[in-house]
Amino acid sequence: MMRIDIITIFPKMFAPILNESIIKRAQNKNKVKIYIHNLRDYTQDKHRKVDDRPFGGGSGMVMRPESIFRAVEALKPKSKIILLSPQGKRLNQKIAKRLSGCKHLILICGHYEGIDERVRRYLADEEISIGDYILTGGELPAIVLVDCLIRLIPGVLGDKNSLNFESFEGNLLEYPQYTRPANFRGMKVPKVLLSGNHKKIQEWRKQEAVKITNRKRPDLLKGCIYRGVKNG
Ligand SMILES: C[S@@+](CC[C@H](N)C(=O)[O-])C[C@H]1O[C@@H](n2cnc3c(N)ncnc32)[C@H](O)[C@@H]1O
Repeated sequence: MMRIDIITIFPKMFAPILNESIIKRAQNKNKVKIYIHNLRDYTQDKHRKVDDRPFGGGSGMVMRPESIFRAVEALKPKSKIILLSPQGKRLNQKIAKRLSGCKHLILICGHYEGIDERVRRYLADEEISIGDYILTGGELPAIVLVDCLIRLIPGVLGDKNSLNFESFEGNLLEYPQYTRPANFRGMKVPKVLLSGNHKKIQEWRKQEAVKITNRKRPDLLKGCIYRGVKNG
């Protein structure tokens, strides 16, 4: 079973997401256990202060290192410590897959102007960003990370096939999906999908995936053998 500990100054932000849908089921099925820790519980002063003014001046407040080190040290050993940070490696499906294989992750959520550099340099094993934009805190990034790696843990998704062909598998975006009705206000489902011919359906899906990727995200196909397929 995987274990994820999240260190935050806003523990209440997590409950609505973690107690719903697939993430909730994954916990009930004992595929993952998620623990939320209030950083203020690891402070040692009576005001439970977690931030301070930056040395050298400048705007905003910076998170102090002591309580973050203390919280992580209470949760180790043998864990991967991840700092959510806009400076980190940009999260993608490959990173999510690698992390979904870890036994224990500790996620540190920053806030304010950021975190004392010593946390980044001497405590975190890895920094992860969820994109090139700035959020007010690391809570949403932690939720994004947890959501995308939990669904990759074997046995979490009900249908084993749901992971077989998804966007980014083999550097392709997913083929178009259709469901009932076959004709909706004159907008018809491609005939091949109604043919019952599985080989043809597979071929069509592959071709569509390549076309869509060529059109929407040609960067994914760089150096890839699928480039020859005509754009549609
Ligand atoms: C307002 S941000 C600090 C930004 C910092 N001043 C900078 O320029 O890098 C506060 C916290 O939100 C989190 N955060 C913000 N944007 C993020 C992103 N794109 N990916 C991951 N974490 C992010 C980080 O934990 C960060 O410490």
